[in-house]
Amino acid sequence: MSWSDEEIAALVEPDRVHRKAYVDQEIFDLEMERIFERLWIYIGHESQVKNPGDYYLARVGRQPMLMTRDKDGQIHVLYNRCPHRGTQLCSARKGNTGSSIRCSYHAWLFELDGRIKSIPAVEGYEGTAFNMDDPAFHVRKAPRVDNYRGFWFASLAKDGPDLETHLGESKTAFDQLIDRAPGGETEVVGDCFHMVQQSNWKVFLENQLDVSHPGATHESTGAAAQTVERDMKKAGEPVPMEYGFLSDFKRIGIDGWVKFGTVGYPQGHCVLEGYMGLRPDDPDTNEYVRRMYAAYGEKRAEEILGVNLHHVLVYPCNSVQPPLQQLRTIRPIAPNRTLSEIWHFRLKDAPEAIYRRALGYYYLVNSPSTMVNADDLFNWWKVQLGLASDGGDWVSFHRNAGQDPMVDGVLRSVPDSMSEMPLRHMMQVWKGLMTGNGSEAGSHG
Ligand code: FES
Ligand SMILES: [Fe+2]
Repeated sequence: MSWSDEEIAALVEPDRVHRKAYVDQEIFDLEMERIFERLWIYIGHESQVKNPGDYYLARVGRQPMLMTRDKDGQIHVLYNRCPHRGTQLCSARKGNTGSSIRCSYHAWLFELDGRIKSIPAVEGYEGTAFNMDDPAFHVRKAPRVDNYRGFWFASLAKDGPDLETHLGESKTAFDQLIDRAPGGETEVVGDCFHMVQQSNWKVFLENQLDVSHPGATHESTGAAAQTVERDMKKAGEPVPMEYGFLSDFKRIGIDGWVKFGTVGYPQGHCVLEGYMGLRPDDPDTNEYVRRMYAAYGEKRAEEILGVNLHHVLVYPCNSVQPPLQQLRTIRPIAPNRTLSEIWHFRLKDAPEAIYRRALGYYYLVNSPSTMVNADDLFNWWKVQLGLASDGGDWVSFHRNAGQDPMVDGVLRSVPDSMSEMPLRHMMQVWKGLMTGNGSEAGSHG
């Protein structure tokens, strides 16, 4: 079938969503066209392309893109496609192309900003319509490219809100990733984990702010970590603070999550407030706070460290956990397949121990090999299998439906609840974008 706006709108009710939103190929194609190939989509951090000639691949919707840095230090986002016969220009995920980009097929040569530089035996083009000045013979650029403090995004729509307007309150995710560094800079560490989830991209986003799942899904992980902690204590061994990232899941339990509020912003971005005791009174943390005071002054440092958030979801593609310097981005591949990149960052001039905590969280919670992420991945896969079946048509988002207060367009979960507000809210934003009624429904480039 081909979907009318009315039919798409009917998939999303105030408290439930039709399964076809997660499994239908045509809906997926429309999502790519109307959401991922229109909104600002995360490409990468500037430190992924440090030197001239460095490049990094990034998929935007269905489009293969290329982030490059030219010899003047400028960053560009190009389609990974040769204007001659269409060959992909770079095939490794990242690398350095030298002073120009050379197509492997017939050796057309391009500047790092995509302009054509030279062609072997160019005389053959004399008297033809070929013209080096014609942009049709340059590598096509993303229509709009911008960055927020070194985090680069591209929009494949020619118009629409600018990046800062789109990011709105979610800018705090990137501010925190940078401002928590005494040296005022952050950079990615090494490469990312690259993983394909066997589930729809919306299942990932929903899970990030689904506070009713951690105490259930991750209970066994928490219990195992508690056992290890107990054994270490009995043996008189110091228990690494990082183990608390896991044992917390058991300690907080299922109902304990009512303490943590969630917020929903008009663009679809959502926030989960802080739940971890990340400012323990230990020598490493105290040294870190001392460096923050020295860098910013006590008042500003306390403002930075006092921002109450654990998780910022930057719709539709990022999940950022600034207190632990983590960023994940998703790149949908099919209705039931989603590529995720899992990154972590190093805060300039912070003590090494603070970095080790970020690394600990990266390995113990966000890595595909940890029990926590494995628990999640298995659930999401099973969700996808269930939604593909005829066992039912609707996904329930009824918890606290209709009870969350909205002030100035910002939704807050009703206090002391595990409200499914962020899940409902994101699908309302989705409905607006998919039917041309969203705030960011610009024209497709
Ligand atoms: S396809 Fe790239 S040079 Fe021919
Ligand atoms: Fe989880």
